[in-house]
Order: sequence, then structure tokens, then C-alpha cells
Amino acid sequence: MAEIVLGVGGGIAAYKVADVLRRLTESGHGVTVVPTRSALRFVGEPTWAALSGRPVRTEVFDDVHEVPHVRIGRHADLVLVAPATADLMAKAAAGLADDLLTSTLLTARGPVVFVPAMHTEMWEHPATVANVETLRRRGALVVEPAVGRLTGADTGKGRLPEPADIFAYVSDVLTRGDAGPDLAGRHVVVSAGGTREHLDPVRFLGNRSSGRQGYALARAAAARGARVTLVAANVALPDPAGVDLVRVGSAAQLYDAMVEASAGADAVVMAAAVADFRPAAYTGTKIKKSADGTSPVIELERTSDILAHLAAHRPSPKQVVVGFAAETGDASGSVLDHGRAKLAAKGCDLLVVNEVGADRGFETEDNAAVVLGADGSSVTVESGPKSALAHVVWDLVRARL
Ligand code: CTP
Repeated sequence: MAEIVLGVGGGIAAYKVADVLRRLTESGHGVTVVPTRSALRFVGEPTWAALSGRPVRTEVFDDVHEVPHVRIGRHADLVLVAPATADLMAKAAAGLADDLLTSTLLTARGPVVFVPAMHTEMWEHPATVANVETLRRRGALVVEPAVGRLTGADTGKGRLPEPADIFAYVSDVLTRGDAGPDLAGRHVVVSAGGTREHLDPVRFLGNRSSGRQGYALARAAAARGARVTLVAANVALPDPAGVDLVRVGSAAQLYDAMVEASAGADAVVMAAAVADFRPAAYTGTKIKKSADGTSPVIELERTSDILAHLAAHRPSPKQVVVGFAAETGDASGSVLDHGRAKLAAKGCDLLVVNEVGADRGFETEDNAAVVLGADGSSVTVESGPKSALAHVVWDLVRARL
């Protein structure tokens, strides 16, 4: 379990951060809350003290004999600043130290995560943009704000991600330890979920895919500092924090979204289950049972192979392209034989091969795989959380960037 400093900035989203604190302490982490003076105008000291079970200080002049900013900063495995206001990030970027939180930021040696929340205008202001860039360049993780309802009637980019999503992000950063944001400055695109090909307004041909592996890949990349575009086909999971989410339905929509997002990207991972066939015709009204009892015949046509297209039309030869393959062995070859053949046919750099069966690989929390490389390499990942497989994939991508 980790020692975490939770720095709370003076924004209305501070009330949501009380829930983040609760999730951190309930999962066994030790949390010292360091609010700024203005944070205490939104959520008072007793709330932070009660939920953390520890005393709460704001000033360097509280308990001076303990030199708290040095002690707290040095002992932290991670510093989480949420909500990170424009003012707080400006101070951190400039190295100012006029209270306990900003002083602690200068003594912290572990990962520092800023979770901004502010109005869109403030987030997009060149001063904030420059401060965020400075913080990222120095190795801090600054989570991209979510898009949605802001304080008051307006909506836009600047919303604090949901507490559960911040918690998941922090957990991912903690599993990395001191490894650092090794994907900082990179843009990666991940597809997730399963496409649906509609026959009529109520029926579709679909794929069994929860989207969990793709979401784990997106979260892991964000925790390693990458800018992440996640193209999700029919996924009912919480939005990962700090990730640009594009929702699609059909294979054709996924194709368009992937082609658009991957222009300029450093790496593309196709974790979505894509329908290989779609109904050749779409009926605009619900297909009814015929009076004479005959069954309709549905003609299918091929969809485009998105992975093969992306691998063959890379915007730069340096872009790394990764595919997934769910295989079963059969009379013509083993799981890995099929995997090798698919890697070559698709033209990608890495292929993550899962062995699937009636109850293996789908809608589960764990995954086991062999990651095959176009260079002939092969890395076995034993059964474990989908986030562990995700980090292995990013290690292999990172080595190829
Ligand atoms: N894929 C894709 N476009 C398709 C089908 C698959 O991009 N129309 C991608 C998947 O996202 C995955 C990889 O290709 O990364 C392998 O998917 P799989 O369904 O195993 O491959 P298929 O080409 O459909 O091969 P098979 O004949 O074994 O179904």
C-alpha cells in the first residue's frame, strides 16, 4: 500500500475529491490531505481529517518543528493534486512555494499527478497551456480534463473526471512505481469493444467484446503520459480519465474514426472485435415474420480490414501498429501457428494472441496472451489483470518507437 499526498486546490470540484480520498483510504493507502487555503472555502478541514484519519495542514507554519513540507514530500510514493486549478498549476510551474502544498510539490520525489478542473477558457488560455506543458516536460502527469457540464449552465472541456476514474488512473500510476511517464509526448490510438452491423432498426450482428482490454490499454497509456484517443464501439464501461473518447457503432464508423485518429499518431492498437461481414442491405423498418412461415435469408458482404489498412497506409514508417487475435487451435495449426500467419497477413508490428474458448478471454477481468513481433520475437504473458497485459504491450511498443 502506498503513501499518498492529496493536494486539494481551490475549485468547486473539491467536493468530488472527497470521494477520491475515500476510495484511496478504503483500498488501504495512507493519505495525507494538504488543501490550499481556498480549497478549505469549498470543503472544510473536518471533512478531510475525518476521511483521511489524519491531521490536515495548509500552512508551512503549522507544526514548524516537524518541517512538514520536507517530511510529507519525501515520504510520498505519489502526489495527487485534484482539483488542480489554473492558479495552482501556474505556481507549480513557476516553482513558487507559498503554502504547504506548493512547498511539498518541490520536495516530492515520486510521481506527481495533476487533475485539472476549470472553465474551458481558463484551460485553453495560452498561460495555462504553457504551464501544463512545463509541468509535463518536467515529468509530471497532467490529466486531460473531461468534457461535460461545468459549474453553472455551461458545458465544455474542463470537467474533473469522475472519482472512480481518477482512482483507476492513480492505481495505474502506482503500479508503475518510479518507472516514469515513458510515453510522454506520444500520441496513441486504441480501439475497443465490438462493432454492431444493423439489419434493421432493432437487430444487429454483433461481437462478444466488453471493451475491457482496450480500456485497460487506454488507461495504461494515459498513466504513462501519452495523449490517448480511445475509439470505443458499443462499450458500457466508465470513461477512462484523461483519454479522448470517440464513440462508434459499426465497422464502417470504426474504420473512419481510426483512419482519422491515427494520422500523426505514434502508435495504433486495434483491440476492438470488428465484424468481418455486415448485412448487404439495411431495412429501414423492422423486419416482420412472413405469413407463410418462411425464414428470411440475409445476404452478407465483407467489411474492410481496418488493421491491414492501417498497417499498409501508415502516415509515417515509424508508426507502430498492433493487432489482437483471438484464436483457437484446429486441425490446420496451433493457436500460435494461426497467430504467426495472421501477423504476416495483417502486416502489423505486434500481434497479441489470446487463446479463446467458450469461457476464456471474453468479459473476464483477467487475460493471458502471447505477443508476437514481426521481428520473430515472442513474449508470453501469464494470466493476470488486463492492465498487466496492457503494460507489457506498451513496453513492447515503447521499445519500437
Ligand atoms: N480487424 C480489423 N478489421 C476487420 C477485422 C479484424 O481491423 N474487419 C482487426 C482486429 O481488431 C484485430 C485483428 O484484426 O486486431 C485480428 O482480428 P481477427 O478477427 O482475429 O482477424 P480476422 O482477419 O477477422 O481473421 P479470422 O479469419 O481469423 O476471423
